[in-house]
Amino acid sequence: MTHILHLVGSPRTTVSASREIANVYIEHLSSLSNCTVDTLDVWKEHLPEFDEEAMNAKYAGILGKPLTERQQHAWATLAPVVERILKADILVVSVPMWNFGIPYRLKHFIDLVSQKDYLFRFDANGFTGMASAKVVLVCARGLNFATGTDTPEAEFDHQKSYMLMWLKFIGLTDVDTITLEQLVFGSEADAAARAKAKTIALQLANSHSATL
Ligand SMILES: Cc1cc2nc3c(=O)[nH]c(=O)nc-3n(C[C@H](O)[C@H](O)[C@H](O)COP(=O)(O)O)c2cc1C
Repeated sequence: MTHILHLVGSPRTTVSASREIANVYIEHLSSLSNCTVDTLDVWKEHLPEFDEEAMNAKYAGILGKPLTERQQHAWATLAPVVERILKADILVVSVPMWNFGIPYRLKHFIDLVSQKDYLFRFDANGFTGMASAKVVLVCARGLNFATGTDTPEAEFDHQKSYMLMWLKFIGLTDVDTITLEQLVFGSEADAAARAKAKTIALQLANSHSATL
């Protein structure tokens, strides 16, 4: 049995391109292999505030200081969310680009779960990520990021590059990325981007199912 966690970053439930392509991958893989799917929609989940208690707990943890009772409580509320990431064999992340980065709810989620001894270790040897899933990262964006455009990827992409950096930081380097671009250039461009991405998603599910 393969356990998939779908981390959903778009609030759009019916027309989201990133969600649609992620679902194509998940549904096709599930038709080929025995899978369980956990959907973690950052727009629907209750995400605890990353408030002063949680932050003090984070700094105490980094400095190796004991936690107060309230800090322990703030820390413990994060454990079940982190557990959902650690449990995944395959992590599918659907990510819209917002203002060249990622939506704030997804960043909130990342700020919550990226904690020492939850998703990474930090010792004399440096940082070690603690997660181990295979990843399918689906990035959707409206503009054209080719070299020579007004928004070349090297300068304007803080979505895919940020997500890849975060995944690496928590230990996830086996990543297949599907990128959809030019989604705000009219219905034809939108349909073409989705069709191309759908083909890649189906191919990825085929090749992943062969390794499960
Ligand atoms: C608040 C907001 C900000 C956006 N900012 C950008 C942007 O900076 N660059 C870009 O290429 N597209 C931008 N877009 C377009 C989205 O990336 C595009 O519509 C994409 O399809 C969103 O992903 P989704 O379809 O999965 O929701 C923005 C859309 C919204 C709603």
